[in-house]
Amino acid sequence: MSFPQHRPRRLRTTPAMRRLTAEYRLDPAELVLPAFIREGLSEPNPITSMPGVVQHTTETLKRAASEAVELGVGGIMLFGIPAERDAAGSAGTDPNGVLNKAIADVRAEVGNDLVIMSDVCLDEFTDHGHCGVLDADGVVDNDTTLEIYGRMAVEQARAGAHVLGPSGMMDGQVAVIRQALDDAGFQDVSVIAYAAKYASAFYGPFREAVDSQLTGDRRTYQMDAANRREALLEVELDLEEGADMVMVKPAMSYLDILADVAAMSPVPVAAYQISGEYAMIEAAAANGWIDRRRAIEESVLGIKRAGANIILTYWAAELAAWLKESK
Ligand code: PBG
Repeated sequence: MSFPQHRPRRLRTTPAMRRLTAEYRLDPAELVLPAFIREGLSEPNPITSMPGVVQHTTETLKRAASEAVELGVGGIMLFGIPAERDAAGSAGTDPNGVLNKAIADVRAEVGNDLVIMSDVCLDEFTDHGHCGVLDADGVVDNDTTLEIYGRMAVEQARAGAHVLGPSGMMDGQVAVIRQALDDAGFQDVSVIAYAAKYASAFYGPFREAVDSQLTGDRRTYQMDAANRREALLEVELDLEEGADMVMVKPAMSYLDILADVAAMSPVPVAAYQISGEYAMIEAAAANGWIDRRRAIEESVLGIKRAGANIILTYWAAELAAWLKESK
């Protein structure tokens, strides 16, 4: 191929020309806002390592949800932080547990105007901080954990979640949750599978966000950063088990994985721009080392360009407001 007369700069000459020829553009509807609610708070509690993100009270969570609706944001992903934790993570299956109550409160506030997603995982609820219950040797017990996930899922569906997000990386979790939902009459509640979730250092600030009790790491259940092909196996397994959407997580260090999954997935593909990715950009911007808004927009656009149809980002509301103002 040879185009001796071609000068690509012609299409970059004016903002209007660049806008016309842009291959990708962001839309608030594809963004999902992850949000934390902590039991027993009277005021929202700032998360130091995630400037601008808080642990919500019921009131401030409801406000954040209705603001998201006004901004045209596509969804919200809820995480709960209980007052009491135990080895089995009982607060997760308690219908009056912090997360289940928050789901009901948000659903009462926004109805069907926002897709309400919730985290089906035990790490916020266990006193040891692992995503499942432990066996006698202290190893996360896959199948005992699945049974608890099934019960958590039904309570979250009953509370009013539209989409459940099992993030624990137990084998078979999507199948068990699907079955539990169907048995309980929740055929229309969807599952977004954290299909390719890697054991990542970038989850660091999330530990503060949920007051995690974890010592050690999650390498026996989350994926190894060295593996690319294996992500496709994880996605295929989750699809076979009935996943309605699949996710790649983290996003920015895994854009190759995201592109691979986008190329083969017959269902919508999500990517989660996680706490550490947020923190890095906020920290550099706070130091004046990068332009905050441009770095945020560029990072999220990169995730979209790699193939994400849905992007979970702590900047969802702010980004949606920018997109609205530039319309
Ligand atoms: C597990 C879970 C984690 C995140 C979402 N769900 C933590 C982990 O796997 O260690 C991380 C999200 C983020 O870092 O923003 N329930």
